[in-house]
Amino acid sequence: MPQTSIVDVICQRALEIAPEVPWLVEPLTPGRGQAFILQHILRNRLFSAVIRPSWISRCPDLAIVRKTIGQMREELVFDDEIAQPHTTLLWEMGRNVGLTNEEMDNTRAVPLVDVALNVWENIARSKHWVAGWLATSVDEFMLTAMSGEHNYRPEAWQATFQLNDEQVFFFSYHTKADDDHAGRKVWEPIARHVTTEAARREVLDGMELALTADKLFYQGICELGDHIDANKNAA
Ligand SMILES: [Fe+2]
Repeated sequence: MPQTSIVDVICQRALEIAPEVPWLVEPLTPGRGQAFILQHILRNRLFSAVIRPSWISRCPDLAIVRKTIGQMREELVFDDEIAQPHTTLLWEMGRNVGLTNEEMDNTRAVPLVDVALNVWENIARSKHWVAGWLATSVDEFMLTAMSGEHNYRPEAWQATFQLNDEQVFFFSYHTKADDDHAGRKVWEPIARHVTTEAARREVLDGMELALTADKLFYQGICELGDHIDANKNAA
C-alpha cells in the first residue's frame, strides 16, 4: 500500500489539532482578544526576523527562499498590495481593541509563549529545514483551513469589540494572505525534498513538536487574557 503523501499527513494533523485549541473555539472575551494581539506581535516579529531566516539559510530550494523572503518583507517592511507592512495593520488592530501603542511597543512574552517561541526557534535551527518551514507556517494553515466558527474569523472580533468591516481588516486580509503562505499547494515542494524515511520521520516529528508549541502558545494567550478580564472586572 502506498504511503500517504507527507503533505496530506501534515494537513490532516494540523486540522485535527485546531479544534483542541481553546483560544480558537471558546468565546472571544475582550481580554483574550487583547492578549492575542500582545503575544502575536512578538511571534510575528520573531518569525520574520529570526526563525524564518534560520531555516531558509539551510534551504536548497531557491523558489522557497525567495517566496519566504517576500513574506518576511510583507510582514515587517512593505506589502505592495496594501502599501504598508502587516505590522502597521497589527498595531491598528490593537488600537481597535483598546490597546495603546506603548502597551504594544513594550509587550513581553508570557511564560508559555516564551516556551513556544523557543521551541519553534530550536526546530528551525537544528532540525530538517522543512520542519522549520512547517514550524513557521502550520499555524497559518490551521487558521485559514479549519472549518466552523472560530476566533481568527473577523466576525468574532466584530461581535466582541463592536467593530465595523474596516476595523477588522487585519483578520479579513490575513485569511487571504495566509492562504498564500501555507497549505497543500504551497507545501507541494516538500514531497520533492523529503525523500528518505529518516527525513520523513524528522520532519513529521518536528511538526508534532511545533504543534505542541502552538497549543502552549495559545494556552499562554488564554491565561493572559483571563488575567486581563479579571483585572477589568475587579476595577
Ligand atoms: Fe501578516
